[in-house]
Amino acid sequence: MSDTVLGILASGRGSNMQVILENIKGGKLQATIGVVISDHANAKVLEIATAAGIPAICIERKAFATKQEFEVAIAEKLSFYNVELVVLAGFMRILSGHLISLFSGRIMNIHPSLLPAFPGLHAHEQVIAYGAKVSGCTIHFVDEGMDTGPIIMQQAVPVLPGDTADSLADRIIKVEHTLYSQAIRLYCTKRLCIEGRNVKIIEG
Ligand code: GAR
Repeated sequence: MSDTVLGILASGRGSNMQVILENIKGGKLQATIGVVISDHANAKVLEIATAAGIPAICIERKAFATKQEFEVAIAEKLSFYNVELVVLAGFMRILSGHLISLFSGRIMNIHPSLLPAFPGLHAHEQVIAYGAKVSGCTIHFVDEGMDTGPIIMQQAVPVLPGDTADSLADRIIKVEHTLYSQAIRLYCTKRLCIEGRNVKIIEG
C-alpha cells in the first residue's frame, strides 16, 4: 500500500502534528505530510514543518474578503500537494461547505473533550466550570457543524479534584498524541467506514 498524503491544518503550537511526524519517521504510520497550513503566520507548527523540510504555508483569513475565498485558497494548496486526508490538529476555525464537499469524508479533527459534551472553544474551562468528573478527547470526521461530525475514536480521562484547565489539558494532550495517529493509521489502512453518524472500524 502506498503512503497516504496528509495535509495538516493547525493554528498553534503543533504538538499533535509533531507526534504524527515522529510516528511517520519511526515507521509507525504509512503516510507522508504533503503540506502544513496555518491561519497564523507565527504559529509554531509552521516552524516545526519548515525544520522537517515540509512545505509550510500561512493562509490568513484576513487576507480574503469572504470565508469562501479563504477556503478556496486552502483547498487549492491541499489539491496542489495531492492531499488525500486533511488532518485538523488544533485548527481553530469551523470549515464550511466548499472545503468539506471537496474533501467529503476525508477531513479529521481532534477535540479535547468527550463530544458531544463541551464542543467549541475552551473545552477544558467548560469541563471544569461544569464540574464534570470525566473528560477526554474525540477524533471525528468533520461536517459543517461545530465538532458534530461522525465519531471515530474517543478516550476518557478522569477530572481530578483540584484540576485546573491547564492540568486537565496536560492529561488530555498525552492521550491525544497516542489516539490521533491510531485514527490516522486506521484511515490509511482503509479500515474506517462511515455509515451515517456511525464510523465502523473494520477488523484488521
Ligand atoms: C489540542 O488540544 C486539540 O485537541 C485542540 O487544540 C489543541 C492543539 O494542540 N483542538 C481544539 O480545541 C479544536 N476545537 P497542538 O497545537 O499542540 O496540537
